[in-house]
Amino acid sequence: MKSQWAELNALKETCQGRSILSLFETPDRASDFRAQTGDMLFDYAKTNIDAETRAALLALYEAAGVAEKRDAMFSGAPINDTEGRAVLHTALRNLDGGPVLVDGQDVMTGIYGTLERMRSFADHVRDSAITDVVNIGIGGSDLGPAMAVQALSPYHDGPRCHFVSNVDGAHIADTLRGLDAKSTLIIVASKTFTTIETMTNARTAKAWMVDHGGDPATQFAALSTAAEKTRDFGIPAERVFGFEDWVGGRYSLWGPIGLSLMIAIGPKGFDAFLRGGQAMDVHFKSATGPENLPVMLALVGIWHAQVCGYSSRAVLPYDQRLARLPDYLQQLEMESNGKGVQMDGSDVAVSSGPIVWGAAGTNGQHAFYQLIHQGTRVVPCEFMIAAEGHEPDLAHQHQLLIANCLAQSEALMRGRNLDEARAKMSAAGLTGSELERQARHRVFGGNRPSVTLAYPKLDPFVLGQIVALYEHRVFVEGVILGINSFDQWGVELGKELATSLQPVVDGQKDASDKDGSTAALVRFIHAHQRTTP
Ligand code: F6P
Repeated sequence: MKSQWAELNALKETCQGRSILSLFETPDRASDFRAQTGDMLFDYAKTNIDAETRAALLALYEAAGVAEKRDAMFSGAPINDTEGRAVLHTALRNLDGGPVLVDGQDVMTGIYGTLERMRSFADHVRDSAITDVVNIGIGGSDLGPAMAVQALSPYHDGPRCHFVSNVDGAHIADTLRGLDAKSTLIIVASKTFTTIETMTNARTAKAWMVDHGGDPATQFAALSTAAEKTRDFGIPAERVFGFEDWVGGRYSLWGPIGLSLMIAIGPKGFDAFLRGGQAMDVHFKSATGPENLPVMLALVGIWHAQVCGYSSRAVLPYDQRLARLPDYLQQLEMESNGKGVQMDGSDVAVSSGPIVWGAAGTNGQHAFYQLIHQGTRVVPCEFMIAAEGHEPDLAHQHQLLIANCLAQSEALMRGRNLDEARAKMSAAGLTGSELERQARHRVFGGNRPSVTLAYPKLDPFVLGQIVALYEHRVFVEGVILGINSFDQWGVELGKELATSLQPVVDGQKDASDKDGSTAALVRFIHAHQRTTP
């Protein structure tokens, strides 16, 4: 792939200084530099990618063999080869597809069986006296369901859902305060059922329930691959929803980890969510080259992060209910592609996946957009906007939201030059050196790239499309970088050191084998602890 990277680097040199706006002199740029599936539109015309660059990006995609690896993933091959596992979250939404074989066994029978059990459990909870559901999990066992439950709040007709993730006791204390233990269901969501944060919070919740008149024997459920550990915790098998190790934590929303979402919106709504994901899978497998949304989203990402060297990207949903999407994508993208070693053990030759961050518009406009518009770093932006909101009475506010979203991408691209800034200052009555000084502050360099994803309305089907779109984007980028997007060895060292520090923090062991900084911090904390844990 060296020649493809070299060609892209050469193209970057030739497009330096070229204005994105000038690319619109090519007729039909807007209709050419976009991809569509169903009612979802991905516009990347406001980037510095022209036809030649796009062709070079597609050549890189071909050279990386993404299509073969995609087929290997969908067919259950063990592509997560540092853990020796298949990667089959797509099977969880394969509602009317064919069999999927892992080690010669069709996994669909088990998936359909678990889905059916989830449906009847969710219906039972929704029909019962349960008023509140608390999902205790962290990382992939929290971010997906928490994001999706918030995203689909207009479709909620079940109990209220709450999410506890942090081991900080403040999180569970604040969540349980005010809940009635007799009408609360606790869902312990942990793929491994060993994660220290989740298991600590689960034990706290169990004690709270006992102390407040609830019954953990009937008011706890578990979502996990570790059946034995859920039994040891005291959760009866009929309320344990299992899945296999070929579902990665950050890809697990589609199965049992999505139980809280199913309880909130009902099994039919959850089915629509799965169908949205499945529709994106079909599109990903069948749409060719520039027609393919996940492929183009990934190639635009590669162009910005690995070729142009922009180290972060902002996800900016102009959709308040997607406020948790940036957090969700942070794990999906950074835990998947934040790696420096390739599959074969060699170093990644380019930079790894970028820093992903963002917030819902318009809030971000009043916080960090200053830097995006006038800071010295270029931050490629990914805008998202629905044609319609869910509040017909407030349609005028939605129009304002749309105008703001479109205005931002236009402003980023167009900017404002010194002459225009001078004219503004002159109109405001300034003259001479003061006009010059003030005008400089009002210049916007422009030429800052962005893409926009537009969709009719944030319903369960569309949310399924969006989540699957980003999953496949991460996959394509990972294959091009030559890395395994499905392991996460980078989280291990911190966990090991936390375990070894626990007795030091508890005062049972001295800090002599720790570095001077850590030992001094422990001494400071001990000196200021007034309560005995
Ligand atoms: O952060 C590491 C990680 O393993 C994530 O990949 C995962 O989503 C999270 O911890 C939670 O793991 P579990 O579901 O096993 O509790």
